[in-house]
Amino acid sequence: MPDPDDKVRAQYEAFPYPARDPKDEARRLVTGSPSHPLEIDHYIFAGRRDWSRPFRALVAGGGTGDGAVMLAQGLADRACPGEVVYLDLSAAARRIAEARARARGLGNIRFLTGSLHDAPALGPFDYIDCCGVLHHLAKPAAGLAALAAALEEEGGIGLMLYGELGRTGVYPVQAMLRRLCADAPDGEKLALARRLLRDLPASNWLKRNPLLSDHLSSEAGLYDLLLHSRDRAYRVGEVLDLLAGAGLRLVTFIEPLRYEPASYLRDPALRRMAAALDPPARAAFAEELCGSLKNHVLYAVKASRADDSVARPDEPGTVPVLRDIDGGALARGMPAGGALDAEFGGVPVSFPLPPLAAAILARCDGRRSLEEIRAALPGRPDWPAFKAQFDALYAVMNGVNRLLLRCPAGGGSR
Ligand SMILES: C[S@@+](CC[C@H](N)C(=O)[O-])C[C@H]1O[C@@H](n2cnc3c(N)ncnc32)[C@H](O)[C@@H]1O
Repeated sequence: MPDPDDKVRAQYEAFPYPARDPKDEARRLVTGSPSHPLEIDHYIFAGRRDWSRPFRALVAGGGTGDGAVMLAQGLADRACPGEVVYLDLSAAARRIAEARARARGLGNIRFLTGSLHDAPALGPFDYIDCCGVLHHLAKPAAGLAALAAALEEEGGIGLMLYGELGRTGVYPVQAMLRRLCADAPDGEKLALARRLLRDLPASNWLKRNPLLSDHLSSEAGLYDLLLHSRDRAYRVGEVLDLLAGAGLRLVTFIEPLRYEPASYLRDPALRRMAAALDPPARAAFAEELCGSLKNHVLYAVKASRADDSVARPDEPGTVPVLRDIDGGALARGMPAGGALDAEFGGVPVSFPLPPLAAAILARCDGRRSLEEIRAALPGRPDWPAFKAQFDALYAVMNGVNRLLLRCPAGGGSR
């Protein structure tokens, strides 16, 4: 009997994904979610991960190496005696990932070619990344169960699964291409996909979906989006069911505010009604409302885990760490009593900020604790007054995934 993964493996042998050139490592590190070390620490280890202790991570379906390289570089930067195990069906993808690791001088990745269904034999792991892979399996639930079985009791998983509504238009085009050229050689399929794209009428849903551009940037992207032999997409409720089936529970979606109806609603009555829903129903509502969630990025831990795995800004010694932005620069562009303006799925969104937002952000340097920031503010507000302002700022900045926490026992700011 043919292996059900053969077609998927063949695709990623021919078109390793995403397209990456190891030479580019000299000029930039690709970072993202899931699996940024700050996020892992914040959402799975309550901000208290001691990076001087060994850490084992699995990158399941590691592709051309984005997640494995980011994680391995993060461990190296923290002098963490850790190991990242990279596992993928595709030897071609692995060769690119290996070349990227070599280009960075990273010696902390173990490269394996194989199926994530065999993960339990490689575990246990403190952390497992599985980004954009489960939705390509014949049995995603069995794949996630295998990953859960490879996870330490106190460990966590970072996932990315396709989102159904944000991918509106993809599946009819996939179906058309299958009708025309299911068994043609790859070159012909790609040529035909390009012809069809050029000829899509303005009313076609893919043509009308501004959120999808993967197919425009590379052959691998075009193949992955429109010619994949197997992919499916998920709604929020289905994601939660998938997690529950594997004995996992959701910690958070990233970015959290994308999953809050209030981010998109203006009508006060609707905002109130949506706010009264429980968190899963709010997330499902937000997905239905915005229609723009093309990927679900999330962190999950074992359902049996009793403690809160998330860092909270409750202790004066906690260190707020801004991610990928400079607090000073952000503060300079921010009028007092202003708002954070952003774009979610091409739609402008705006989140009001507390009066001290700019002054606090200017002092968030990844080293100062909340107490040190409070003490350095003009007028030195007392702790309750400061905390109220910080909490309001945190709800926004953490909600857009720019502000994470390191808690005292973890030591330091990384
Ligand atoms: C869309 S790519 C994602 C790559 C990478 N995780 C990323 O986000 O950049 C999917 C990858 O999963 C791999 N894959 C698919 N099924 C797999 C399986 N059962 N076990 C291991 N890898 C698998 C493919 O070979 C491919 O490299």
